[in-house]
Amino acid sequence: MAADERLMTGSFREEDANLENSLRPHTLREYVGQAEVKDSLSIYIQAALNRHEPLDHILLYGPPGLGKTTLATIVAAEMGQNIRVTSGPAIERPGDLASMLANLNEGDVLFIDEIHRLSRSVEEVLYPAMEDFAIDIMIGKGPTARSLRVSVPRFTLIGATTRFGMLSAPLRDRFGIIYRLELYTPDELATIVTRSAGLLKVKQAEPDGMLEIARRSRGTPRIANRMLRRARDYADVKNGGVLSARMADEALRMNNVDELGLDKTDRTMLACMMDKFGGGPVGLDTLAATTGEDAATIECVYEPYLMQLGFLMRTPRGRVCTPAAWAYMKRTMPAAALAQAGGADGQISMELE
Ligand SMILES: Nc1ncnc2c1ncn2[C@@H]1O[C@H](COP(=O)(O)OP(=O)(O)OP(=O)(O)O)[C@@H](O)[C@H]1O
Ligand SMILES: [Mg+2]
Repeated sequence: MAADERLMTGSFREEDANLENSLRPHTLREYVGQAEVKDSLSIYIQAALNRHEPLDHILLYGPPGLGKTTLATIVAAEMGQNIRVTSGPAIERPGDLASMLANLNEGDVLFIDEIHRLSRSVEEVLYPAMEDFAIDIMIGKGPTARSLRVSVPRFTLIGATTRFGMLSAPLRDRFGIIYRLELYTPDELATIVTRSAGLLKVKQAEPDGMLEIARRSRGTPRIANRMLRRARDYADVKNGGVLSARMADEALRMNNVDELGLDKTDRTMLACMMDKFGGGPVGLDTLAATTGEDAATIECVYEPYLMQLGFLMRTPRGRVCTPAAWAYMKRTMPAAALAQAGGADGQISMELE
């Protein structure tokens, strides 16, 4: 199943379209969680404002739906600048990017989503632009062609990607500030859905109801907001608009979301690892082939949450199910798997650092 066909995916779905912009926070203060990112960003922003200089180029990476686009718009707003939004696949030719850069105003933020999908020839236009605020234009053709360096307004590039590993090294190295966004805690998500409930005019959003949605949203604000809307509709029909924990639970259950926020795809994947591979280690590609899922999607979308739950470990030899996952799936863990999980302990803590 493609990631965007799943209800519990952090990836953007059609149904999010109306919601997304209205629920987006507009200031750093309203942006919940990601404390380290916010602390350091606010210092950089203040310093840049004091010096009357554009902010350094920023790269944001992390699973879909964690707030990269939101953060980019907030940075532009906090800098008091306009944001120009585009994406890697939308910039087809080097000339497209060159004219986009030439048309920026001094201090503007250029946001390139899915920046790992820029073609190499487009990337090459970006290098001098990022470093020297200049682009090299080729004049003429054939042997008489020469390149002319033209300056562009000083701007801040904000790049976002779900696939940090796919970024080329030269591009990565040109970002002065690199942040990885983390999955949110249930408390942070509860704060987010409580705010959203106000904006969505939920008649009565009970704190327990908000926490129930938060606990089952895979650490992802986009999923939490999506679940909130479904639970609101359910509570409207069944409970006169009172969104209690019981209403949230029933609404989520009706959508096949279990008490930890796992859906059928997660459970199928865990079951497959246990039943076919004794709980692992199993390589990513093998797992992808056996479950019929895309390897990148497993890695960027499903695994981070299973790892946060402590159900899955990445070891050098492949993915391994933990005792907690076996217990959750109501299966007895074979002795060999138990030894494997115990032996890999040191590797998990290294991974999570
Ligand atoms: N820190 C946050 N505080 C409050 N709401 C948030 C936060 N982060 C994200 N959201 C909400 O989640 C929704 C999705 O966020 P956003 O579009 O910024 O994610 P993204 O990381 O850009 O996803 P993608 O990888 O699909 O581009 C937004 O509409 C916003 O309302
Ligand atoms: Mg985005």
